[in-house]
Amino acid sequence: MKIALIGAMKIEIDGLVAALSQPSAARVGGIQIHSGRLYEIPVCIAACDPGKVNAAICAQTLWLNEHPTEMISLGVAGGTRCLKIGQAAIADSLVQHDVDTTAVGDPLGFLSGLGVVSIQTDPSIREGLYQAALRAQIPVCRSRFATGDQFVSPARLAQIKSQFNADVAEMEAGAIAQVCYRAQLPFGALRVISDNGDAQADYETFKFEAARLSMQILSEYLSKKKEPVSPH
Ligand code: ADE
Repeated sequence: MKIALIGAMKIEIDGLVAALSQPSAARVGGIQIHSGRLYEIPVCIAACDPGKVNAAICAQTLWLNEHPTEMISLGVAGGTRCLKIGQAAIADSLVQHDVDTTAVGDPLGFLSGLGVVSIQTDPSIREGLYQAALRAQIPVCRSRFATGDQFVSPARLAQIKSQFNADVAEMEAGAIAQVCYRAQLPFGALRVISDNGDAQADYETFKFEAARLSMQILSEYLSKKKEPVSPH
């Protein structure tokens, strides 16, 4: 077992990297990969930088070089008004809200090559993350995530809700999900809400605490995860 963990920004992974036992680091294809163990579980961790292309490059690099058995995207996100700042959300499915080939007859958000609009997360990872948030006593819900290369405004969040029925908007998880879908690698996504679309006041104020809470939930998830017992 090895779990790959991807945040966009350093503040979304630094607490995990600092907690690594047997730490090591390597740079592969421009991606800084931190390896080691958390709660005895082998992990590899990277900050991919914001955006879908950065996220996909990072996910594919981790997949090909580290051979993880599952991948989790964590960090902060914008939420519709029904989600409060500081609340956690676990993805049940993900869409990419800025993909649009409707001009040639596809549904909005259609992922060419995959032939779907929405990608499901792995049931056991999403349940594990949900239970971890409950144990950490952080308010949590299940939601569809909408990923795009945009820091979304309140108006755009409302539009994404009506187009895709998603309450969480962020910039990486859908791209990482797409890499995992192709690789047939179990995938999960966890976010803590930093804003409801206010880039200046709320996001800048709450991103650090939201990032910390997301790492806390992830740590709780790993603490209850057991290495499968080998048959011999
Ligand atoms: N990450 C945190 N807040 C966000 C927002 N409003 N839009 C996109 N990504 C985000």
